[in-house]
Amino acid sequence: MITLQNPLDMHIHLREGEILKSVLNFSAKYFSGVLAMPNLKIPLDDTNSILKYKKEIENTAKELNCGNFMPIMSIYLSESLNKNELIKAKKEGIKILKLYPKGATTGSENGISEILNQKICDIFEIAQDLGFILSIHGESNGFSLEREFEFGEIFREIAINFPRLKIIMEHLSDRRSIDLLKYDNIFATITLHHITMSLDDVLGSGLNPHYFCKPILKTKKDRDALLNLALSGDEKISFGSDSAPHLESNKLKQNGAAGIFSAPILLPKLCEIFEKHKKLENLQKFISDNARKIYDLQNIPNKTITLIKESFKVQDFIVIGDDRIIPLLAGKSLSWRIKDL
Ligand code: NCD
Ligand code: ZN
Repeated sequence: MITLQNPLDMHIHLREGEILKSVLNFSAKYFSGVLAMPNLKIPLDDTNSILKYKKEIENTAKELNCGNFMPIMSIYLSESLNKNELIKAKKEGIKILKLYPKGATTGSENGISEILNQKICDIFEIAQDLGFILSIHGESNGFSLEREFEFGEIFREIAINFPRLKIIMEHLSDRRSIDLLKYDNIFATITLHHITMSLDDVLGSGLNPHYFCKPILKTKKDRDALLNLALSGDEKISFGSDSAPHLESNKLKQNGAAGIFSAPILLPKLCEIFEKHKKLENLQKFISDNARKIYDLQNIPNKTITLIKESFKVQDFIVIGDDRIIPLLAGKSLSWRIKDL
């Protein structure tokens, strides 16, 4: 048995409307808080829309009887974002600024094409002065397996030029990125899928579109290096699932939408891995304590989650209208489960 205090998922796509209603319980019941990503169909680059979305999440969590739960909001860095909007957002308690390179992933069409140009550097300066945390999807538009590594130069530039700006490398996927954590102001999130799977799971034996995500899963060496980093409880690393539900039809027909839906299995699977590697004592840091410090999170609602070592079968799909969403490890059995689930 293990008890986790106030689990936090610092990177998740909750979507909106019907999908939100169908996926939120997986997170809101078992996590104290989650950082909700702003890449909705209309990107959330203004305070009013963010607050409206926050209400939608809170109301849905109430309807689903999820108990104490806090959505943590982020603002999308689009070309039209300006100082006044950042000041307004900060006043409303929004302190995460999310940068997507234009075209890098799902919902990044309104992202930034030239990250180090003057206009965007001015935004970084303002963000630094206001105390924002800059969370970055760090990928170039080069060869797919090199994208995160190539982006390293940009992380370095921002870290050196804005030393008081906290920068988060989202969803680490390449072991060569780990070196960037030597900069005092660079931190990272790590997903479940990047520490348990490799590119072989996507295309090693038939193409599996449900395991296709950005950044793409890489080599087994990358997986193992990131796994060790997560297991170590390193205080610069928070857990961020990057759970990103897509309808099966979009996965199969629209050139394979990028995103893995991992929300239904997160805590049991993490227990399984941390136990296997005899590091269960570090799970609390990875799942909550580190994030509380890095993001300076106050007033996190209290939630105590107990997991027991009993078999848990992952559901095959969740139904959305006449479509479905297929979770990671659908139909498989895990060796831990959440008590009372
Ligand atoms: C995410 C999504 O579907 O919104 N997809 C993904 O592959 N991770 C966007 C993102 O975080 O890159
Ligand atoms: Zn994401």
